[in-house]
Amino acid sequence: MGVGLVGRIRERVQTTGIENTLKYAGAVLADQVNSFCQETVLDLKYSGRVLYGNEKTRFKQLGANDVYHTDYSAMPLIFDYVAIKPQDVLVDVGCGKGRVINYWLSRGYQNKMIGLELDPAVAAQTVRQFARREQVRIIAGDAVDNMPSEGTIFYFYNPFEWDKVAQFEERLVSMAGNKAVTVIYYNPKSLSVFANRNWDM
Ligand SMILES: C[S@@+](CC[C@H](N)C(=O)[O-])C[C@H]1O[C@@H](n2cnc3c(N)ncnc32)[C@H](O)[C@@H]1O
Repeated sequence: MGVGLVGRIRERVQTTGIENTLKYAGAVLADQVNSFCQETVLDLKYSGRVLYGNEKTRFKQLGANDVYHTDYSAMPLIFDYVAIKPQDVLVDVGCGKGRVINYWLSRGYQNKMIGLELDPAVAAQTVRQFARREQVRIIAGDAVDNMPSEGTIFYFYNPFEWDKVAQFEERLVSMAGNKAVTVIYYNPKSLSVFANRNWDM
């Protein structure tokens, strides 16, 4: 059971005093305003619209998870782990509203980028926002059915549940053949699917 916001503030005032608590609150607020501004700038610059807000999936019966974003602030930490070469084809599996693609574009990558998105309404909007960017392609439909054979780096932020992840892994292995592919799996809820001899983790 959590102590709640008021409880936490009271506790902080008791331990550090009112002045330090106000300073801390100011710093937190400034940080949030700063993040909000940076997110808005990236959204508008690369997608021409703001991409805030999560949406409940309408495809739970297909094992889909909700539409929510990787935080922009986490992306440098995630992608700095992987050396992206000019010939790599980047795939966001379950791209949602496209913030990961915005981030890749903001890094100046000239690579081909592919977003796979199940929800037709979300996909249609994401197609529209990237329509003028030749290097970006959004494919509406099930990622397992639409896996692009040219993909070399697949970003994966829990688009769907375990059974579907197992299908995805099987399809990716058979599609890749001898070609090396990388899966960047953020917050890996079904990591055990990849615990087999096909993958170095
Ligand atoms: C957690 S969001 C991640 C969005 C984006 N990749 C990011 O990190 O900001 C997962 C997305 O996967 C989509 N999705 C769920 N099942 C899918 C499937 N079978 N094929 C393609 N996309 C799917 C959802 O509609 C949702 O937009």
